[in-house]
Amino acid sequence: MDKLVVEGGVPLQGEIAVSGAKNATLPLMAATLLASGQHKLSNTPRLRDIRTMGRLLEHMGAACEHDDLMTIDTGSVQKPEAPYELVKTMRASVLVLGPLVARHGCARVSLPGGCAIGARPINLHLEALKQMGAEVLLEEGYVIARARELKGATITFEQVTVTGTENILMAASLAKGATRLVNAAREPEIVALADYLNTMGARIEGAGTSQITIEGVRELTPPADPFPVIPDRIEAGTYLIAAGITGGAITLTHCSPEHLQALIEKLRSAGLTIETGPDRIQVRSNGPIRSIDVKTYPFPGFPTDMQAQFMALMTLGDGVSFIVEQIFENRFMHALELTRMGARIELDGRSAMVRGVKGLSGAPVMATDLRASASLVLAALAAKGITSISRIYHLDRGYESMETKLSQVGARIWREKE
Ligand code: EPZ
Repeated sequence: MDKLVVEGGVPLQGEIAVSGAKNATLPLMAATLLASGQHKLSNTPRLRDIRTMGRLLEHMGAACEHDDLMTIDTGSVQKPEAPYELVKTMRASVLVLGPLVARHGCARVSLPGGCAIGARPINLHLEALKQMGAEVLLEEGYVIARARELKGATITFEQVTVTGTENILMAASLAKGATRLVNAAREPEIVALADYLNTMGARIEGAGTSQITIEGVRELTPPADPFPVIPDRIEAGTYLIAAGITGGAITLTHCSPEHLQALIEKLRSAGLTIETGPDRIQVRSNGPIRSIDVKTYPFPGFPTDMQAQFMALMTLGDGVSFIVEQIFENRFMHALELTRMGARIELDGRSAMVRGVKGLSGAPVMATDLRASASLVLAALAAKGITSISRIYHLDRGYESMETKLSQVGARIWREKE
């Protein structure tokens, strides 16, 4: 296993190009199962999770190539199943469930199992498919779903679910009749998926709002032109904090500031100067980091995927910051590792109290999940001395060439074999 080693204390300066969004690419790859033929995606990031989804599609019989463009041919998919060996490494595999039932009438998908940040059940996905007429059974750790023909329905999600909304958006595209989603997720990745489905001939309205209507059609066809993946707003947000925590100044390019409004407002309150252009964000440190409070919400609120990174910044605040994680029940594992670097954090259930300290010191720490590992890198960039971060396969799931991008703006960071 690899580890990342960071010698902290360098204010980062320069320009970073943001990659395509992991959480947009994954549903788009699943959506190719809805339309037989060759699909092309551009601006796709090179990440572990993307490779896993590619392997999953190949397991079903699709052909996947990832050069400059990602090309997926679903013309010969004949095995509608997602095995445990693949699903256990990436819960987003559940996104093939809706497309498989809609296009093939059946699906056998392993239950994702537990995850470091929470139980993360998929009950809302399954209830919605049942409402659309699917027969759903659980057998030996697998979801078996069958439907001769899915029927449109009005589905109210009791809790906002991103992949739940995506799964049903895809299933409803080929259902008979109209489907209305109430309390749907509003993330930019949902809008991107709806755009892709509409380009294939689907009839979706309201994506990006909490009410989405889908008029089912009989067939979808792969778009003629490559479809561009939207920029990764969480990668972008992570690098904004990298500038703030090191007292530097960075310009992000190839990004969408409109996807980061809640975070940008919080970072401005924390004392950073941020200017935005159509596809760029300039951030620079402007004096001490101010301790501010944050609660995580579904989009357009402050994203849970930025909570760990924001906590790293608050460890160096000028007072006390209260952070409440309202989406997942166990998303503070980074706090225990930050404490090893000298941070002062007290946890109480879903709340964390962060007392700012003058400085952090390097230490050996361990990554536990994707965004926790990003949080540790950020703290290491600011800490005095050397930090080694083990189990960084977590980081490789969601950040393309992070050490290369950070080195380009002056960070002293390198990869070593454990
Ligand atoms: C997506 O996960 C993202 N993953 C997550 O990003 C992100 O943290 C999360 O949305 C919230 O924004 C992808 O898009 C691939 P949810 P998802 O369904 O869809 C509960 C990252 O770092 N829930 O919106 O799995 C659930 O337990 C990852 O890139 C149910 O109870 O999240 C959670 O508490 C981590 N039953 C809450 O809802 C269900 O059927 C939100 O989960 C579904 C969800």
